[in-house]
Amino acid sequence: MHEKNESHDSDSDFDELLENLQAEILKEEKEIYTERTLKEAYNPKNVGELKKPGGAARVTGPCGDTMQIHLKVEVNAKEDLSDKIVDCKFITDGCGASVACGSVITELVKGKTVEEASMLTPESILAVLGGLPEENIHCAALAVDTLKAAIANYNEPRD
Ligand code: FES
Repeated sequence: MHEKNESHDSDSDFDELLENLQAEILKEEKEIYTERTLKEAYNPKNVGELKKPGGAARVTGPCGDTMQIHLKVEVNAKEDLSDKIVDCKFITDGCGASVACGSVITELVKGKTVEEASMLTPESILAVLGGLPEENIHCAALAVDTLKAAIANYNEPRD
């Protein structure tokens, strides 16, 4: 019984230490990143894979991190209308900023035609996030490069 209490005490000491550490990290992050970036990084949307993606790509950025994007595209039977992206998922092993960029770009492309989506740029992501520090601009570029590669994969002729 006594031992249990001791371990409980050390558990709560550890919890407190962890909480303080997390609060400290969050404070530092708030000085560097916008509120929207932190929101997207901590609660990203559209993380994962699609079962049978119409377009898929995995790209490695200059930092060595990778991003994967899957697209589900609704083919439009009428020739005068472009195919529409109806779902989009991403996975990254990159930094928090890349998670935020993946979350934003997958939201941006949903409901857009393939043509419209191919016109997105890193600035489109930065506009939503309210900017990123200079050293994280390449993370937005990684998200856009991956999207473009997934669109190129979608456009590849199939048997
Ligand atoms: Fe590599 Fe952000 S994706 S540092």
